[in-house]
Amino acid sequence: QNKELVLDERLLQICNLLKANVPYYNWVGFYFKNGNKKELKLGPYAGDPTDHTIIPFGKGICGQVAESNKNFVVPDVMAQDNYIACSITVKAEIVVPLFVNGENIGQIDIDSNTADPFTEKDERFLEFVNQEVAKIL
Ligand code: SME
Repeated sequence: QNKELVLDERLLQICNLLKANVPYYNWVGFYFKNGNKKELKLGPYAGDPTDHTIIPFGKGICGQVAESNKNFVVPDVMAQDNYIACSITVKAEIVVPLFVNGENIGQIDIDSNTADPFTEKDERFLEFVNQEVAKIL
């Protein structure tokens, strides 16, 4: 139990750091696969609370990444039909899967209030962040 609290505290620090230091990162959170259930569960996050603490596989951008195992960059959320809106201020989203020993166990999810802000640099950076996170899980 204590180990999980320490871990959650570290993940929260990462969310806070990312949100505070990248102006177009307006909501930063981790979702993790929830045991054997075909759903994601919200972990630590920085930004406004969301109603979407559980997301079934396949639903929304996050649920699609749970199945595709691939980065999903959304320059314009309004152009997506399989999208779960958390806030009306969000214009763009990036989701990068988190691998432990080659297995997709969750993801980092970032919402932006800026239109089309994410580049390959964000993808490489967030892949690096997830690789570092994988080491402490
Ligand atoms: N927009 C996400 C849902 C999670 S919120 O962004 C925090 C999606 O479509 O999966």
